[in-house]
Amino acid sequence: MDPVKVIRGMRDIYPDQTKWWHRLERQLAELLKCYGYGEIRTPILEHTELFKRSIGEETDIIEKEMYSFDDRDGSSLSLRPEGTAAVIRSYIENSQWQKEPLSRYYYLGQMFRHERPQKGRYRQFSQVGVELIGAAQPAADVELIDVMVQSMQAIGLSKTSLELNSLGCAECRPVYRQKLKDTLEAQRQNLCDDCKRRMVKNPLRVLDCKVESCRAIAGKAPKIIENLCSDCSQHFTHVRKGIETLGIAYNINHRMVRGLDYYTRTTFEVLAEGLGAQNAVAAGGRYDDLVKSLGGPEIPAVGFAAGLDRILLNLISSLAEPAQADGVFVVTRGEEGWLAGLKLMQELRKIGIVVQSDVRSGSLKAQMKRADKSGSRFVALLGEDEIRQESVTIKDMRAAADSTEKQFSLAKKDVVQELLVRLNHQSTGELSH
Ligand code: HAM
Repeated sequence: MDPVKVIRGMRDIYPDQTKWWHRLERQLAELLKCYGYGEIRTPILEHTELFKRSIGEETDIIEKEMYSFDDRDGSSLSLRPEGTAAVIRSYIENSQWQKEPLSRYYYLGQMFRHERPQKGRYRQFSQVGVELIGAAQPAADVELIDVMVQSMQAIGLSKTSLELNSLGCAECRPVYRQKLKDTLEAQRQNLCDDCKRRMVKNPLRVLDCKVESCRAIAGKAPKIIENLCSDCSQHFTHVRKGIETLGIAYNINHRMVRGLDYYTRTTFEVLAEGLGAQNAVAAGGRYDDLVKSLGGPEIPAVGFAAGLDRILLNLISSLAEPAQADGVFVVTRGEEGWLAGLKLMQELRKIGIVVQSDVRSGSLKAQMKRADKSGSRFVALLGEDEIRQESVTIKDMRAAADSTEKQFSLAKKDVVQELLVRLNHQSTGELSH
């Protein structure tokens, strides 16, 4: 029988990689805590309607990328393709605005999009998302952009650029949309087939088409930030002032229109070198109309999400190997040795020491080989002699072969305390970042 394989576009991540994920997740959570953001956890499954109403029916995500299926009662459910919609659904459902004037949330988790898999693009991927709900002021946009840029720096991403744009509001965007449509109409024959379709339903998406002929047309099209109403224009000027004061460099990118329909005003993306076509590592923007359009009151918000798979692809070559496992490997012989080993391991783990053993037992030689491979600092040996003498033989795997410290005996009653002291004194310690 053929073995079952992993689903295309999805992947398994093993301990030699998850160690980097843990580090990244920890660094991001620590930084977000410093900015006053608390973690929110929402379900991975939501009603399909939530995503249709928020992301927009005419987006690629809704048209062709959702993992949707009918529940037993016939209602359509979808695996979340992003996190913002669910956070806002929950915010409305729990009337959070009545409990706190400003809500600062972050989330970390798996998202699902049925896209064409390629380097940096998966069908299941991880995001850390950050949402600030309840403020229309440019200061909120500046805070979010600052958090995003600081997060990328804290985790060690270099060679990034920040792209900025404003998509206007319900007042000025329709006017711009029409102007753009008129321009595109005149060039219709030179647009790719996708853009001929986009031009009618979602003309802004023509601006970020990658086809060369469309790029040329987009380059000459009217620019949205030159067509903003005065409120949007002022808002954008203040956002720029704020981030300039923080010393954050950016490019105005007229073509960055985002693939989700809920955005208003400021949008932003961090691009990283070395990732090919999938070079956006973090992206977001303001979405002042989403809370209302999902049935809540008129409450503005701004947020972003960073793609952790892409970030790690970019970082992996520069990551330093974490310090070797600095624990104890317990080697035993005979039934009594095994039972005494069990007790010793339990005591050591209780005080936080990393302990491994070869549960297959086997010969002393085989267990020692395994101990050597494990990278453990000490081997604690329990055989017939040790049981008789109520002692444990300790081998220091990193001491020189001729050193008196290479192998010594400890009284059973002292072994836990003695190993703790030695590990604390001599350990290379946890990575600082
Ligand atoms: P997004 O631009 O669709 O925005 O995704 C944000 C980031 O997730 C991307 O910049 C990328 O790093 C990562 N990403 C997206 N799709 C994939 C994929 N198929 N494989 C690997 N990584 C991917 C959002 O999701 C919005 N919810 C962001 C936001 C939050 N806006 C406001 N608040």
